[in-house]
Amino acid sequence: MRVLVTGASGLLGINVALEARQDHTVIGLVNTLSLRKAPFEVLSGDLLTEGFVERLLDETQPDWVIHCAALANLEACESDPALAAQINTEVPRKLARNVARGGARLLHVSTDTVFDGRRGDYSETDQPNPLSVYAHTKLDGERAVMEADPDAIITRVNLFGWSLTGKRSLAEWFYNNLSAGKPVMGFTDVFFCPLLANHLAQILLEMLSLELSGLFHVVSSECIPKYDFGVALARKFGLDDRLISPASVAQSGLKAARSPNLTLRNTKLSQALNRDIPGISTGIEQFYTLYQQGFPQKLQEML
Ligand SMILES: NC(=O)c1ccc[n+]([C@@H]2O[C@H](COP(=O)([O-])OP(=O)(O)OC[C@H]3O[C@@H](n4cnc5c(N)ncnc54)[C@H](OP(=O)(O)O)[C@@H]3O)[C@@H](O)[C@H]2O)c1
Repeated sequence: MRVLVTGASGLLGINVALEARQDHTVIGLVNTLSLRKAPFEVLSGDLLTEGFVERLLDETQPDWVIHCAALANLEACESDPALAAQINTEVPRKLARNVARGGARLLHVSTDTVFDGRRGDYSETDQPNPLSVYAHTKLDGERAVMEADPDAIITRVNLFGWSLTGKRSLAEWFYNNLSAGKPVMGFTDVFFCPLLANHLAQILLEMLSLELSGLFHVVSSECIPKYDFGVALARKFGLDDRLISPASVAQSGLKAARSPNLTLRNTKLSQALNRDIPGISTGIEQFYTLYQQGFPQKLQEML
């Protein structure tokens, strides 16, 4: 297959592109970050430029499009809601319209944050209630994709992993601070179910191979507070977990509202794939194995 990966310089996109290149021809789209030494074809451009989406699809002629590009920084979305709406809602709408017209398959990446997190244990039939600008624009993006391309796959994800800059994921943040001996806060009242980006990438490709369509929660089978995640990671890496202070998200001073209980059910996904979805402990084990194998350095050498 010819696989176009947007956001190939991002945390998810680079891991998807590297996973996909094992069996497919990959074209990765980047924007501000230059990816000079990637082991796949790289194109550069801004998805917001008039006519760019149409030209990109014409020139690359993909069979599958995996749309990982987004304005994924919650605080940046609060500061510029119009830009967030353009990137997180209007780009997916345009992409879905044009992909459907050309006969390719689209996998759109959304977020667990579409829920307000008051209850938790959400399935795909539960009603979202976004709290932040980011979450609103991502939910609108899901709806725009569903309307324009009912055959598309829409995935609500949460993830951690190694990125090109070494600074994109919560796991890297814990690792960077703790290995420098710096104290950090870990929220005890924010629950999530992140998948390792590499596991998530494999699942997304499997979903396309199986020709699934519709909305899926693509999250880990385990859900834990962010504090516990930091402690588990510290212990795996032999770092001092006492540097992580248990804290409430209310103490964080963050501008964008955070949903406290983002535990999502992945039953629909595991039934569709006919297998278990990895848990967080498996993800942390593999995150450590990748570290031992020099994967973070290999990523940085691609810049
Ligand atoms: N990280 C998480 O924990 C998390 C959780 C839930 C959902 N998600 C979702 O997962 C997806 C991937 O997130 P991520 O963490 O990988 O994000 P990320 O690391 O911030 O990467 C975002 C990517 O989007 C690209 N991009 C942004 N604006 C663009 C534009 N105008 N034109 C072209 N490319 C543009 C960036 O390109 P440059 O860097 O080259 O500018 C970058 O490659 C997103 O849909 C996000 O909403 C992420």
